[in-house]
Amino acid sequence: MEGAEEIRQCILQKLDLQLNSDLGTFRIADFGCSIGPNTFLAVQTIIDSVKVKQSKDNKEVSLMPLEFQVFFNDQPNNDFNTLFRTQLRSSTHEYFSTGVPGSFYGRVLPRNSIHIGHTSYTIHWLPKVPEQCNNLVEEVTKAYKVQFTEDMKDFLEARAEEIVQGGLMIVLGQCLSDDVPMSETWQGIVVDIVTLRS
Ligand SMILES: C[S@@+](CC[C@H](N)C(=O)[O-])C[C@H]1O[C@@H](n2cnc3c(N)ncnc32)[C@H](O)[C@@H]1O
Repeated sequence: MEGAEEIRQCILQKLDLQLNSDLGTFRIADFGCSIGPNTFLAVQTIIDSVKVKQSKDNKEVSLMPLEFQVFFNDQPNNDFNTLFRTQLRSSTHEYFSTGVPGSFYGRVLPRNSIHIGHTSYTIHWLPKVPEQCNNLVEEVTKAYKVQFTEDMKDFLEARAEEIVQGGLMIVLGQCLSDDVPMSETWQGIVVDIVTLRS
């Protein structure tokens, strides 16, 4: 699975929670889960990594195994039936599942309820087409940047309320550093060709 090693390292190095029975149920949320199977792989990687961290952090003591609950979030029109049917058919999953319909650009979970949040290949989905868009490339690029900045602020503010102190928010997706023009990436080249031909 793409990103599995990054998830593992992130949890081992950055999760700042006492992983003992005082913690109660360990709660994970996947924002923009779609219908699987990637979400199941990501969740399993997170659970396995938390367990490794728990045994590393508590070498001297024998602890009760943690129980896990997973919140699967997506838009209300996501096919949650397929998601849960696939999950029940395919896995030996060791967690309790909950579906959470709603836009992740606002709050979808109670305050301080999540230990690890995860999202992959989702935050490029803007909630609306930017206003004041005309056909000039520079203006359009600027309008999308403004819209993305607002959306990311909403996304991060909502997660900051939902995730406990010492927890983690893992965001996976494609990025481009400022000094690489889009037109020099393979995606940019494909878009240019399609645009020229149409
Ligand atoms: C490209 S899919 C990625 C699915 C999965 N995370 C993966 O890595 O395979 C993007 C998903 O994000 C969901 N999504 C987009 N905008 C959303 C929003 N505002 N709130 C919740 N989910 C959203 C879409 O419905 C879609 O299922």
